Amino acid sequence: MYAYRMKGFDSGWINSGNRRFATYTNLDAGEYEFNVIGSNNDGIWNTTGKSIKINITPPFWKTKWFKSLSALSLIAASGSVYQNKINRLRKDRKAQEEFTKKLLETQENERKRIAGELHDSIGQDLLISKNKLLLSLNNPDDSEIVFKNINEVTDVITDALKNVREISYSIHPYQIERLGLSKAISSIIERLKGTADIKFTCSIDNIDKILLPESEISIYRIIQECMSNIIKHSGANEVILNINRGENFITILIGDDGIGFDKNKLISEKGKYGFGIQGMLERIRLIKGEMNIESVPGEGTTLNFKVPF
Ligand SMILES: Nc1ncnc2c1ncn2[C@@H]1O[C@H](COP(=O)(O)OP(=O)(O)O)[C@@H](O)[C@H]1O
Ligand SMILES: [Mg+2]
Repeated sequence: MYAYRMKGFDSGWINSGNRRFATYTNLDAGEYEFNVIGSNNDGIWNTTGKSIKINITPPFWKTKWFKSLSALSLIAASGSVYQNKINRLRKDRKAQEEFTKKLLETQENERKRIAGELHDSIGQDLLISKNKLLLSLNNPDDSEIVFKNINEVTDVITDALKNVREISYSIHPYQIERLGLSKAISSIIERLKGTADIKFTCSIDNIDKILLPESEISIYRIIQECMSNIIKHSGANEVILNINRGENFITILIGDDGIGFDKNKLISEKGKYGFGIQGMLERIRLIKGEMNIESVPGEGTTLNFKVPF
């Protein structure tokens, strides 16, 4: 007969009868001493028995170095997540600052252009008119000169009126207030029809007065930029403009069958989109909308916008 115990684990002796083995499945890491004693057929025990020292090493995930390494890498990982977040925020802020800088630059350039136009076209027209009227005043009896000058002044003033309209229009699209957004957008297309050999197919729902005035201007400027990109870059023959008023969203689709472009190449070559598309993205972001650009070289470009109201 045998009895055994694992010192450090068993609290007493375990009788195993004639069984010559013992099984332990859940010994924690540590040092143990395994004792076996036996008895003869008369039931006399040899209490000295045999002993063996057993050292159970911990699995690697329970070792101190593993635990401290895990803790360290956890700290490092959360540190790098934090660092990444900071880097991303810094990058966002830098992009925002660049955008604002560019916006101010563009505004300044626009003012320069308007000042130039006021000076060169309207100023010039008024000067010519003044001189012609003076000529008439100096020759009041020469009805031929008076008549000729008044005629010319009328032409110059007609021209000046057209210029004033164009300049004030480029400063602020007053047509939105006067005609409503939908008609103002139609008028962008009408004006283009006269200058470009492109077939326009438009379907424009009534979206007047469902957005804030600033948002209406954003939509208007976005469509203006899309159209100016089509005229400048696409070489398209046909353009589609669909504006759909849904239950909670306005969806806008602008498609052309022009040369298209490779988005990734454009971004990788220039670092980002041009200022026009960046401006659209920024405007759309501000009115909490979404914008999607699909363009395939040789097959044209489609822009989709979704604006909540
Ligand atoms: N409809 C289009 N068809 C072809 N290329 C386009 C179109 N729209 C934009 N692009 C390309 O994307 C570029 C960036 O456009 P944009 O951001 O408006 O800048 P910009 O018009 O000042 O060049 C353009 O230079 C052009 O290469
Ligand atoms: Mg552009």
